Amino acid sequence: MPELAITALQLSHFRSYKHARIEPDTGITALYGTNGAGKTNILEAISMLSPGRGLRRAAPGEIIRQPEALGWKVTAELHSLSERHEISTWAEGEASRNVEIDGKKATQVALGRLARMVWLVPVMDRLWVEGASERRRFLDRMVMSFHPSHAEATLSYEKSMRERNRLLKDQVRDTAWYDALEMQMAISGAEIANNRADVLARLQIAQDGAKTIFPTAALTLINAEPATAADLREAFSAGRERDLSAGRSLNGPHRVDLQAIYLAKGVEARSCSTGEQKALLISLILANARALRDDFGAAPILLLDEVTAHLDETRRHALFDEIEALKAQAWLTGTGPELFEALQGRATILKVIESESGSLIG
Ligand SMILES: Nc1ncnc2c1ncn2[C@@H]1O[C@H](COP(=O)(O)OP(=O)(O)OP(=O)(O)O)[C@@H](O)[C@H]1O
Ligand SMILES: [Mg+2]
Repeated sequence: MPELAITALQLSHFRSYKHARIEPDTGITALYGTNGAGKTNILEAISMLSPGRGLRRAAPGEIIRQPEALGWKVTAELHSLSERHEISTWAEGEASRNVEIDGKKATQVALGRLARMVWLVPVMDRLWVEGASERRRFLDRMVMSFHPSHAEATLSYEKSMRERNRLLKDQVRDTAWYDALEMQMAISGAEIANNRADVLARLQIAQDGAKTIFPTAALTLINAEPATAADLREAFSAGRERDLSAGRSLNGPHRVDLQAIYLAKGVEARSCSTGEQKALLISLILANARALRDDFGAAPILLLDEVTAHLDETRRHALFDEIEALKAQAWLTGTGPELFEALQGRATILKVIESESGSLIG
């Protein structure tokens, strides 16, 4: 098994599942089944074992299996380097979710230290052509796999910024209040900026040295702010009047965008073909895995929903081979078993079906 892997996964009243248990004994687990069978729900359940709202960014209440509307729960045995942990997360009603690690109440950030993971989902097929916020989120998810405290810094930054925005909107002119909020935004903002710059450099190195058929992307951060807390504080303070006119904070790490250029062609990602755009994303995920393996000692868990869509056969097979070579645990989905034929004997291949009592894995 990979150095970082879920060795047992259990779902209870999670979306279409009343109950499910999977014990993968290979690095790659491939789930296939018809539309609506419950494949993505499994990946979403795994994503709830990392900080945040999971790969669909759902509210806890959405996840609860209907119509019973009992609380949902996801439990996993996690093998991480030489340790084993039992982790679980659950929620009832609209309340925010609970986390337990080895039987003790824990924070989501603590979860992020153990279960490093990154994902690709079909909505990201449009990542390079849509707004900056999705790209920023994609970048931050990769950053979190290296720096679990990035999640905390982001939350802290957003909390202070929301408060500052409220003051700006209400045209409050209380210097001391702004000073205090901007100080907090500057401290968290500098951490965010440094983490992002660090990970961007790591991804670049991991791409340059790689033996891969996936394209190399030259990455740049657009609108990146100065990276020291003092400079950021200065910038927030200098922008106060302008922000008062706008009624919101116009500069800071929340405005950063990720730009990628398909190097071999010298073309910006947004102008690439659909398949090329997908290949760029996969290339970044694989670079992330490579760099984290060298840094942390294990590749992150990869959740790749419908990842083979838009990939030709050569790229599909190369993806499987590269995941194997990286010794990463990967969870893949696809509608038919033929997509995973090349994985026969090398992966846990499971069929997901929809039944009257909910989704079943057989
Ligand atoms: N809270 C919920 N309670 C019960 N069922 C739910 C809930 N949320 C979603 N579902 C059901 O889960 C199913 C979707 O599962 P999922 O998205 O995992 O499908 P999939 O196998 O990935 O399909 P596709 O191939 O179309 O992507 C749908 O039938 C949906 O109605
Ligand atoms: Mg799906």
